[in-house]
Amino acid sequence: MTVPHWIATAGQPLRGTLEIPGDKSVSHRSVMFAALADGVSTIDGFLEGEDTRATAAIFSRMGVRIETPSPSRRIVHGVGVDGLKGADGPLDCGNAGTGMRLLAGLLAAQPFDSVLVGDESLSKRPMRRVTTPLALMGARIDTGEDGTPPLRIHGGQALQGIEYTLPVASAQVKSALLLAGLYAKGETAIAEPHPTRDYTERMLSAFGVQIDFSPGHARLRGGQRLRATDIAVPADFSSAAFFLVAGSIVPGSQLRLRAVGLNPRRTGLLQALRLMGADITEENHATHGGEPVADLVVRHARLHGIAVPEELVPDMIDEFPALFVAAACAEGPTRVTGAAELRVKESDRLAAMATGLRTLGLRVDETADGATVQPGALGGGTIQSHGDHRIAMAFAVAAQRASGEVRIEDVANVAPSFPGFDRLAQGCGFGLRA
Ligand code: S3P
Repeated sequence: MTVPHWIATAGQPLRGTLEIPGDKSVSHRSVMFAALADGVSTIDGFLEGEDTRATAAIFSRMGVRIETPSPSRRIVHGVGVDGLKGADGPLDCGNAGTGMRLLAGLLAAQPFDSVLVGDESLSKRPMRRVTTPLALMGARIDTGEDGTPPLRIHGGQALQGIEYTLPVASAQVKSALLLAGLYAKGETAIAEPHPTRDYTERMLSAFGVQIDFSPGHARLRGGQRLRATDIAVPADFSSAAFFLVAGSIVPGSQLRLRAVGLNPRRTGLLQALRLMGADITEENHATHGGEPVADLVVRHARLHGIAVPEELVPDMIDEFPALFVAAACAEGPTRVTGAAELRVKESDRLAAMATGLRTLGLRVDETADGATVQPGALGGGTIQSHGDHRIAMAFAVAAQRASGEVRIEDVANVAPSFPGFDRLAQGCGFGLRA
């Protein structure tokens, strides 16, 4: 099978109004929690990507009826917290760390055994960060060598609530523990070194669960039930991020990104870009399924390099590939520190971005937990995406300022997370072809 690639070149000034697909984090959780609820929930704006569909398919295999009356809409017939049935084989999470880690917490509490598997990239990602605290709650999960998938989950364990401080800020680990905590005896209380996205807390609360939470803390009692509710998924800020950077760096650009989710735990890049001098305004503020949304209007601006404030890192953890491209086109160096987690994402994103930008002619000095990007003129070259969707999209953006042709290898994982990226990009003026 040939692995798809892109050829990206500088295109037109970027213009237009873009509808960005639904938020991935919210989509995964919406289908999971609706499946566990008593009653029927409707989800609107569901991300039609392979990752979130994989999560939905896993619940179908565990006996949950999920209808798709039209694209981006799901009707989920919840089976209640005690209604899931064991599947007859491994459950495939595809490329999704969120799917696998949240499911680890949920399935550890079920009366049946489960096996979770993933694609090549997910099969290399660390899972002990979730299995270790789950074991403290009484869960039994075997990982592969080095703590990687597959996860063999032995059901039928009586779980105990836990008080746990996460060693690294991770919404996925926090969420896994909260889901296990729903089934555990007593209370589960999680503290985080830095506040992370709180969709699990917000959404469990929307499903009627009593949960106390504030930035950096979450606490719930086991034995609660979920009540069906309808969910409106906002547009994914992490997908919008590529167009915010593209619109900022391509002269003559003006883009409107409609009704993008602006949960403060997600919008660190907006703050970082504004510190760099970006011209991004917010219009038509509204609330969409309990989440703040607004149209983002981005116009080309002269960016300058910054030291990215470390306290912004968790709030922009998925946006560093895009940030590195903004840094490449700024005046003066940009320094990133406190971002070691980037080494265990879908790829080692510090290494992948540093290597790719060097290929295009820049100097990038990498450290264990960050990098310094020296901006300059971008040339052409061949970029390895390492099968990482965000690396591929970041270099499609970088190419819009390159003097040569940029070939981006292995873009197969873009569609699972951002279906239609290439069409949206071409439609607003990107030079991009398969
Ligand atoms: C996510 C949490 C983050 C983020 C990922 C989605 C989530 O991962 O990088 O893309 O939906 O909870 P970590 O929990 O590893 O920080």
